[in-house]
Amino acid sequence: MDFRHQISGPEALAAVACDALVLVVHIDGLDTRLDPAVASLVSEAVKAGDFKVKTDRTLYLHRPVGVKATRLVVTTAADATPKAFKKAIATALGQLKGLGARRVAASAPFALTAEHAEALVAATADATYVYRHTKPSAPADAAIAKVTLLCTQQDAPAVQQGLALGRAVAAGVKLARDLANRPGNHCTPTVLAEQARKLGRHHGLKVEVLDRKALEKLGMGAFLAVAQGSHEPPRFIVVHYRGAPKGEPPVVLVGKGITFDSGGISIKPAAEMDEMKFDMGGAASVLGTLHAVAELEPKLNLVCIVPACENMPGGSAVKPGDVVTSLSGQTIEILNTDAEGRLVLCDALTYAERFKPALVVDVATLTGACMIALGHHHSGLFTADDAMATQFQAAAKSSLDPCWRMPLDEEYDEALKSNFADMGNVGPRAGGAITAAMFLRRYTGKYRWAHLDIAGTAWKSGPSKGATGRPVGLLTHFVLAQAGRG
Ligand code: BES
Ligand code: MN
Ligand code: ZN
Repeated sequence: MDFRHQISGPEALAAVACDALVLVVHIDGLDTRLDPAVASLVSEAVKAGDFKVKTDRTLYLHRPVGVKATRLVVTTAADATPKAFKKAIATALGQLKGLGARRVAASAPFALTAEHAEALVAATADATYVYRHTKPSAPADAAIAKVTLLCTQQDAPAVQQGLALGRAVAAGVKLARDLANRPGNHCTPTVLAEQARKLGRHHGLKVEVLDRKALEKLGMGAFLAVAQGSHEPPRFIVVHYRGAPKGEPPVVLVGKGITFDSGGISIKPAAEMDEMKFDMGGAASVLGTLHAVAELEPKLNLVCIVPACENMPGGSAVKPGDVVTSLSGQTIEILNTDAEGRLVLCDALTYAERFKPALVVDVATLTGACMIALGHHHSGLFTADDAMATQFQAAAKSSLDPCWRMPLDEEYDEALKSNFADMGNVGPRAGGAITAAMFLRRYTGKYRWAHLDIAGTAWKSGPSKGATGRPVGLLTHFVLAQAGRG
């Protein structure tokens, strides 16, 4: 997909050559500077009652008289924000679906920023995404091949910059969706490691993959306990992006890479268990972010860590009540084998210490409780570091990939007490997302840290079941901000 900008004011839209012209209009009414040919078509439709200037409305015209574009799609934005613009573009692209338009141009009645441009790319990438890996018969990618954002001379530099960022993020989102959508038998820990190596070759990055033997030698008792019930060998993946001198402390991203979560001996109910193939959504988004970051080449060092394994029941699976020793030396009583995410993450978080990180962010489809707390709109953000929280909030706003800060008070730690080990791996149902974060906190004392619970945001259920690619946008913006780019 080709994204570009073109300088064209609202008064010259009729002359824009394309297969479809998307005209975003303001909910407050029509832009008075609008090209008379276009304006009269829209006001005619408004007069006839065919088009109401309300959100989520579209007007579609084929070969409109006096307009060079083959199709005109008028759509409304609630306000001038990137968020409203993105929604308007998504609505227009929905209208164009299946119509065969290859070259689309879009215009808005307000000043465009980098964030508007990025939003346009994200909306287009989302509208045209097709999963094909295990369904090659899926209808070919949407016809749209080129999208042009019409803007003023003044807005052009920001728009250009936003398009470039948008392209990189969209590529990262696509990678994350493609990986997370793959079923467990097509996206094993070994396949994830191969994907990381491929990414490394593409960008010239160092990739290390540790196997079971190496992990035993290190003493990753918590990670290995999860992996031991499966015939699929575990993989501990580490990828290094170097954009700054070697000595500069890296940003470290850790992604939960459970390629299938059956629950283990504490097995999950059968209904919707298939969705647990998405339990490597954290890993997918970390690799997607790495892809975007490597594309944009910011001046910082980034290390991505993915502990990848399956969580399966079986004769050799870990049992409720088993006590294991984590890499940190702390012992864990595994009360529920379905709380496996924190077990693979805690060893990865301890491993992260060796990089003397500037900060560490882990990303995980960690708890159903987080989904209950926040639904599917906000990812859960847990951090004791106010500066990191502020940066995440800024990144959420500029990427339109929201997160919401959750508490981490000491009082919640109580729930992890065990009579047989330094800690249990679960607390009570109430506050489950927080106790999971408190568990991770016990392994992150040596650096600045934040945790993102993406159980509710990494994928969608229902008829449009599939991975969302979140939170690649959020993470990419956050990482760029660490290099002074945002
Ligand atoms: N991968 C799940 C979390 C999850 C559940 C994500 C549903 C998305 C939708 C995680 O490994 C898990 O099973 N968590 C348990 C923890 C519990 C046993 C304390 C949960 O949330 O039920
Ligand atoms: Mn689980
Ligand atoms: Zn899980």
